[in-house]
Amino acid sequence: MERKLHPTPAGYNHTIAGRTVLASPVCDFDMVVFGGTGDLALRKLLPALYYRHAEGQLPDAGRIIGVARQQIDRAGYLQMVEQACRTHIAPEDFDDHQWQGFARRFQYVHLDAGEAESYRPLVDCFEGVPEHRTRVFYLATSPLLFGVICHNLHGVGLVNAMARVVLEKPLGHDLASSCEINDRVGEVFEEYQVYRIDHYLGKETVQNLLVLRFGNAMFEPLWRSGLIDHVQITVAEQVGVEGRGDYYDRAGALRDMVQNHLLQLLCLVAMEPPTSLTPDAVRDEKLKVLRALRPLAGESVVTHTVRGQYRAGAINGQPVPGYLEEPGIAPARGTETFVALKLFIDNWRWGGVPFYLRTGKRLQSRTSEIVLNFKPVPHSIFQEGSGGLADNRLVLRLQPEEGVKLDMMAKAPGPGMQLKPVHLNLDFAQTFQGRLPGAYERLLIDVIVGRPTLFMRRDELEAAWAWVEPIMAAWTARSDSPKSYNAGTWGPTSSIALVERDGFTWHEEG
Ligand code: BG6
Repeated sequence: MERKLHPTPAGYNHTIAGRTVLASPVCDFDMVVFGGTGDLALRKLLPALYYRHAEGQLPDAGRIIGVARQQIDRAGYLQMVEQACRTHIAPEDFDDHQWQGFARRFQYVHLDAGEAESYRPLVDCFEGVPEHRTRVFYLATSPLLFGVICHNLHGVGLVNAMARVVLEKPLGHDLASSCEINDRVGEVFEEYQVYRIDHYLGKETVQNLLVLRFGNAMFEPLWRSGLIDHVQITVAEQVGVEGRGDYYDRAGALRDMVQNHLLQLLCLVAMEPPTSLTPDAVRDEKLKVLRALRPLAGESVVTHTVRGQYRAGAINGQPVPGYLEEPGIAPARGTETFVALKLFIDNWRWGGVPFYLRTGKRLQSRTSEIVLNFKPVPHSIFQEGSGGLADNRLVLRLQPEEGVKLDMMAKAPGPGMQLKPVHLNLDFAQTFQGRLPGAYERLLIDVIVGRPTLFMRRDELEAAWAWVEPIMAAWTARSDSPKSYNAGTWGPTSSIALVERDGFTWHEEG
C-alpha cells in the first residue's frame, strides 16, 4: 500500500491509497491499559487504537500493554483482543495484514492493581525504555482503584514527567467522593498529567459545534437571549442497562449522563468564545457556564426535574423487559433511567432563556441532538390563510446521521403567497464522505500527543458535581419513586408537560 507523508504545521498528513488521513505528530509511546480485559478496553479502546494503527497514525514503536488480573499469557490476550476487534470493527475496515502489525504492539501483564508487590512484571516492561518516551496509564477500572493504582505506579518508580494518567468516568458518586479521588490522584500526578475523559467531547459532531460557532461569523450575533427562545438538548438511547445493572443501579441517569455528557454539551453550546483552542482557554469558558447555572434545590427540583424508570415495552417492534427485571437491580433503590430538566444560565448572554435537557434509556429512538429554537418574527406581514409562520430552528444532530439542519420559511412556488417550512440540511457523511472516526480514536491520540483541551479539568468536574448534588439530595428526601414509562416511548408524560407548560414541545423527528 502506498503511503506518502506531507508536512503540516501540526505534523504529517498521510495519504494512504489516495486518501488523506489525520495529521500525525504522534511520538513514540507506551500505553498501559489497566482493566485490559474489561468491557471498555475490548469494546472501545483497543478497536479505536486499531483504527488509528490501520490509518497509519501510530508510530511503529508505539506499544500497548494490557494489564489485568486474569492469568493468561500474551497469546491468550491477543486472542481476546482479536475477537473483540473483529466484533467491534466494521468487517470492511478489518484487515488481516493490518491486524498482524497491530498485534505486534501488544504485551500483557497479569497483576493485582491493589497489590504493590505484583507490579514487578510491569516495571520489567519499562526496563531500558528512555525517560523521554511518552507513557500513558489508562485506568479503565473501578474508580475505587484510581488512587491506589496511582500510588502503586509511583511506588515502583513508573511515574515520570512524561507520564499521563487517563481517568474514566464515573469519577466518584458525589462531590466529596470525586474530590477524594482527585486528591489521591493529585498526590502522584500534576494536574497537567491528568486526563479526565468524557467521550462525548471526542465525538466529531461535538467538536464541530466549536467550528460552527466560532468558525462562522453569522451565528455569533444570534447566539443569545433576545433571539433564542429556548434550547433543547436530548441524548436518547434505545439500549437498556446492557449487563451493567450493578453499576447503573447505583448511578442512575443523572450521574451516568447528565453530570458529565449533557452538562459538557451544554457548556459548549453556551460558553463565550474562548480566545484560542488552548486547553485552559476552552476550559475556563466552560467553567464559567457551570458556575452560572442557577441552582436547582428543594421545591425547584420538584417543578424543574422529571425522573423516570422504564417498564417492559417494545423497541423496534421487539419486546424488552422492564428495568426492574434486568439483572443486578434492587427495586428499592428507585433508580432513574430517564431525566428531564429545565435550567437557566444566569449571565448576560442567556438570562431568561430556558434550557431543557433530557436523557434516558429504552427510548423510542437513538437520537442525540441540540436544538436552538429562535424567537418568532416580531410582526407578521403575511395574511391569515397563507400557511402561517413556523419559528426558525437550528438542529445539531450528534448521532445518528450527524449533521446540521436549519428550519426556515419559504414561499411555495405558484400563485398567491403560500408559506412553507423548509430545511437547509448539511449531512456530514455525505459532505465529507467516508467513516467518521469514533470518539475514543480522537481522544486516545490527544492523550498520546498531550493535547488536553477535550478533557475535563478538576474544577469543571467539581462544579458539575456541585450543581447536580442538590438535585440528588432533593430526590432522596422525597418519598415518591420515578415515574414509569413504557420502553420504546419518549419517557414519562410529565417530561412532555415540563416543556408544554412553557408553551413548547420537544423536537422529535421520525
Ligand atoms: C456512557 C454511559 O458514558 O455513555 C452509558 O455510561 C451510555 O450508560 C453511553 O450508554 C452512551 O454513549 P454513546 O456514545 O453510545 O452515546
